[in-house]
Amino acid sequence: MLGPGEIDTGVSGRFLVVYAIAATGRVMSRITFVEHDGTVHEVDVESGSSLMKAAIDNLVPGIDADCGGECSCATCHIVLTNDWFERLGSPVDREEEMLDMNPERQRTSRLACQIPVSEELEGIEVQLPEFQF
Ligand code: FES
Repeated sequence: MLGPGEIDTGVSGRFLVVYAIAATGRVMSRITFVEHDGTVHEVDVESGSSLMKAAIDNLVPGIDADCGGECSCATCHIVLTNDWFERLGSPVDREEEMLDMNPERQRTSRLACQIPVSEELEGIEVQLPEFQF
């Protein structure tokens, strides 16, 4: 189903990413946020942003980001698939401390403000935990 402002081009998402780079000079990545009830939000995000900022800028619910990305509130908690968690690497010490304060933390939990968006994130799927709604 198409969202507001979207058009059906009949071409693949990867082609559109390449086209976006050629047309604007900016690298965009398709990020998929999935709410606890299965609601999906697909957004195209420019490299240099963060997963937290991508959610906030696109009005994705479940990410409050009270500290603005300073790694001091943990209201940008997300859960990754095993594959994406391994690809991105472990959280740094400060992020670990913040995640440890949440008893609902999962093995693949991360803070979205600590994950920079780059073309390597193309196609990532991010789960939004229910406790954050
Ligand atoms: Fe506060 Fe991520 S926005 S820890």
